[in-house]
Amino acid sequence: MTNMRVNEERLWADVMALAAITDPARPYTRRSFSPLFLEGRAWLRARFEAAGLACRIDTAGNLIGRREGNADRTRTIMLGSHSDTVPDGGRFDGIAGVLVGLEVLRVLAESGQTLSHALELVDFLAEEPSEFGLSCIGSRAMSGRLTPLHLEYAAPWGEKLGPAIARMGGTVAALHEARRGDIAAFFELHIEQGVILEQDAIEIGVVEAIAGISRIELLFTGRADHAGTTPMGRRRDAAVAAADLIGFVARTASALAASGQGHVAATVGVIEISPNASNVVPRSARLVVDLRVSQRAVAEAFLVSLRQAAEQAADAARVVLERFEILSDTPPTPCDASLRKLLSQAADGLGLSAIPIVSGAGHDAAHIAAVAPSSMIFIPCRDGRSHDPEEWAEPAALAAGAAVMLHAVLARDAQEPPLLIED
Ligand code: HGY
Ligand code: MN
Ligand code: MN
Repeated sequence: MTNMRVNEERLWADVMALAAITDPARPYTRRSFSPLFLEGRAWLRARFEAAGLACRIDTAGNLIGRREGNADRTRTIMLGSHSDTVPDGGRFDGIAGVLVGLEVLRVLAESGQTLSHALELVDFLAEEPSEFGLSCIGSRAMSGRLTPLHLEYAAPWGEKLGPAIARMGGTVAALHEARRGDIAAFFELHIEQGVILEQDAIEIGVVEAIAGISRIELLFTGRADHAGTTPMGRRRDAAVAAADLIGFVARTASALAASGQGHVAATVGVIEISPNASNVVPRSARLVVDLRVSQRAVAEAFLVSLRQAAEQAADAARVVLERFEILSDTPPTPCDASLRKLLSQAADGLGLSAIPIVSGAGHDAAHIAAVAPSSMIFIPCRDGRSHDPEEWAEPAALAAGAAVMLHAVLARDAQEPPLLIED
């Protein structure tokens, strides 16, 4: 192990270089399916290949770099995360995990040590909620959870998800080939996107479970009218119903979060009013609710009460609840106990402080858990900020996370001979 040292400067230079590939007017923005995303992908692929990885785009549009192990047809140890961002996002969310994985694979290659397992590094397609209304598209496909119905989801510009995946290099007709059954272990590093590690001066968070995420689209439809002449009692104002529902979401989630029912958080991050003119009574209001829970029963109860509240809000505003659609509904996911132990031992062996932690954010690891032992570690980020240009992680924190991943990968590789893949 002595000749294996993470190169902090090289890792940091990669993070800053990828950050430069952004919409210059909205740093840092590299939305999935955009030309900028493809530019970032091209940069990543060149770095993967420079590290000696054999690269491919799988049929779901995931970028995969691979190094064979020293046995034939072994199972695969996989590292990965995502390189797409939210609008006006940061330089570390997802990107840290892909580039730390790259650094781990480089250090292993430079040490001249070949593992018994094959090693893969994945940049998953569209982890962030995309313009198609769906997140974690690549990892859903890799875990067999991307459905034909999902492929029909359309972007505001009319394109459907299936052809968009093809634009990213996927082959939708062979989407089933993206589903994996050969992953022995999956490791994902991510910034915490919360304040616990920083405020307690802890260097590594070993993730116990990843919050369940439910995203629900609502459309209230009323009637456009003159804002000055229409009597208040005759209006069918869709924004009034929307405002009522937004208040319900905030009050209910706050009460649940305070009631000791695990992690609960909810927001209405998409609010689209039409025709969106100051002197027109709003005809329609489209909302997307984002709900996070660590206990599945809380989500199920919330969804029932949300529907009731939406119908009451519509009645009170004399409008119609035209759509109430669950866009995605992922249950809470426990991380693999044996991999958590390896990660904790790796941190301990490196003299790094580590605690178990629950993720309120969603991650590709939650989907990969459906087909493989899946694990995550968090590193601190400044003030817990994320999904914002202020997002920041220290070079030393990235390097420490990479060292933990390196040691955990080596420990997992040595733990048992790589089970050969049955035909
Ligand atoms: O929304 C999330 O939890 C993640 O950042 N995509
Ligand atoms: Mn994110
Ligand atoms: Mn992320």
